Amino acid sequence: NNSAARFLPESHDLGSLRSAAAGCEGCDLFRNATQTVFGEGPGRARYMLVGEQPGDQEDRQGHPFVGPAGRILDRGLEEAGIDRDEVYVTNAVKHFSFTERGKRRIHQKPTAAEIEACRPWLDAELAAVRPGVVVVMGATAARSLLGRAFRVTRQRGEPVPMGDALAVATIHPSAVLRAPDRDAAYAGFLADLRVAAGTGG
Ligand code: URA
Repeated sequence: NNSAARFLPESHDLGSLRSAAAGCEGCDLFRNATQTVFGEGPGRARYMLVGEQPGDQEDRQGHPFVGPAGRILDRGLEEAGIDRDEVYVTNAVKHFSFTERGKRRIHQKPTAAEIEACRPWLDAELAAVRPGVVVVMGATAARSLLGRAFRVTRQRGEPVPMGDALAVATIHPSAVLRAPDRDAAYAGFLADLRVAAGTGG
């Protein structure tokens, strides 16, 4: 019963999906989150970028990647020469998961069950947008899209077939922010985005 599947609308265009996802109660994360943060971007985009889940800012504002991780992402896209008009941005999990510590909301990794429950939305976004290249950012998105055996650290930066698209895995932009050597982590992230930009997808 832990699945978004029963909340999917009949029509799978992005507008219908977004409206339906606003009322999703497919797992328990809707209880504490402010709102569903659905993917955003053109209905036909060459690139689909998939993160983990909305963070604190995304949860408040209702848009993906508008906080600190979003600033890293924007910089990477710009430097890799990927045009924002060609990018649909979304997350593996559409509600913010957190624990409260005083007034602070501390991000909590979504569980395997939550990732699984939310996958119907991601599958529907993929089917609607039909991207040529899917940039899979971090272990959560990789688990959702590439399976639990996939290891981002070993398999990042190599295009792998994913349905009609090519997937390129990379680290999560938040991991760049947390890395002891931020410049090196960012350089690796950018190199992977450049691979994505150079694929024929
Ligand atoms: N981290 C994510 O994975 N997604 C967002 O939208 C913001 C931060």
